[in-house]
Amino acid sequence: MSSSPQRAATPTGTRRVVVGVSGSIAAYKAPFVVRLLRAAGHEVRVVPTEAALRFIGAPALAAVSGHPVDTGVFDDPAAVEHVAVGEWAELVLIAPASADLLARLAAGRADDLLTATVLTATSPVVVAPAMHTQMWLNAATVENVATLRRRGVTVIEPDSGRLTGADSGVGRFPEPERVVAEALAVLAEAHAEVDAQGTGATTEPDLGRRHVVVSAGGTREPLDPVRFLGNRSSGRLGTLIAAEAARHGAAVTLVAANVEADVLSLLPAGVEVVTVGTALELEAAVRSACGDADAVIMTAAVADFRPAVVSGTKIKKHGVDAPGSSEAGHSTRPAPIELVENPDVLAGLVAQPPRADGGRTLVVGFAAETGDATGDVLAHGAAKARRKGADLLAVNAVGDGVGFGDVDSAVVVLDREGEEVTRVSGSKGHIAEGLVNLIAARLA
Ligand code: CTP
Repeated sequence: MSSSPQRAATPTGTRRVVVGVSGSIAAYKAPFVVRLLRAAGHEVRVVPTEAALRFIGAPALAAVSGHPVDTGVFDDPAAVEHVAVGEWAELVLIAPASADLLARLAAGRADDLLTATVLTATSPVVVAPAMHTQMWLNAATVENVATLRRRGVTVIEPDSGRLTGADSGVGRFPEPERVVAEALAVLAEAHAEVDAQGTGATTEPDLGRRHVVVSAGGTREPLDPVRFLGNRSSGRLGTLIAAEAARHGAAVTLVAANVEADVLSLLPAGVEVVTVGTALELEAAVRSACGDADAVIMTAAVADFRPAVVSGTKIKKHGVDAPGSSEAGHSTRPAPIELVENPDVLAGLVAQPPRADGGRTLVVGFAAETGDATGDVLAHGAAKARRKGADLLAVNAVGDGVGFGDVDSAVVVLDREGEEVTRVSGSKGHIAEGLVNLIAARLA
């Protein structure tokens, strides 16, 4: 496994982020920024300028952020929004920031909700400029950027590349992943400083010197070179748990089964990622990573079965489709797919503890349940907890509009007897935080 992670580059827990959007063509990328922040577990309110709304609609920004969107200081005067939003913010991120917005910020103007919010905010402010090269290099903009930096605003360097027209150069809005990573690093830094000032000393993180292995995503079992049996798991919760464990100081290995790059981009630097495709590959990778693991958290959706035979060539619709044959294939019933059972990785970790040195590994499983005529979600979860024998089993209800309450998502954690240990609810980031706190407490 890799060396222990570097200092966490993202903040712990759910934070309140104001995303300002100004009038640049790159405003259409703001929803991606919002989505990444929310996927990382943060609460987001969007404050666009009037000009931004010429490029992107308020309903889209409200939908991705989950909050209504206002632009003017007079939209809801009773709520004193220009102060309230600034006070609410733990981070203000303006993405994209146009040349005009940089000028207004540098001048200290407060003629719309966004600029007023920046003036009232006591949180860090990060801006991601986007404009044409001439505007970025103009002496006025250069001075505005210098002024803002002098005042403590973090100005993200724009990318170089294709601009709105046929031209290219410096001034391009950076990839949303980079914008979010740099903004969250600023937020993490600010909180580290606050913690250090608050306690007067740096404390050992509660998972320091621990090795935590997390599996995430969904396995894919090939039928032939182009087809597979798979599932819908995105790997987001497992990735957030891995990120949270790293923030608690653990050395983390994430065994990622078919997890998209935009989800993996939520990981802080230093997390070791082992990519796998099938259940057998996942089993081998998890066991190998667990040789010195203090905890293993199995969030991956592992296929219970795989095709008994994997065709080396593409399976044809009508069975026979030989080149040169005039028979375009005759209508036959498709051959049934014979399946063989995959190993139960979680049960295997319980039956055969993975540590080479005889040390103990805390084994945590997940169970997504729908409930059925034979029992509700928790009854199925409890039966599974007893069957699997893991130290902890986090049960969550899945299906259309199903959950344990009026919340984004919720898990009930059971012990190996099926008894309830705790409940965690909220955003996936919040659930990851709750579970990692529980695991840290168990390991303490
Ligand atoms: N799991 C595993 N190996 C498998 C199947 C599941 O390690 N072959 C793990 C999952 O990572 C998860 C837990 O077991 O932590 C529960 O997975 P789930 O699919 O809910 O359980 P199954 O045993 O497949 O039960 P069923 O499909 O009957 O609900």
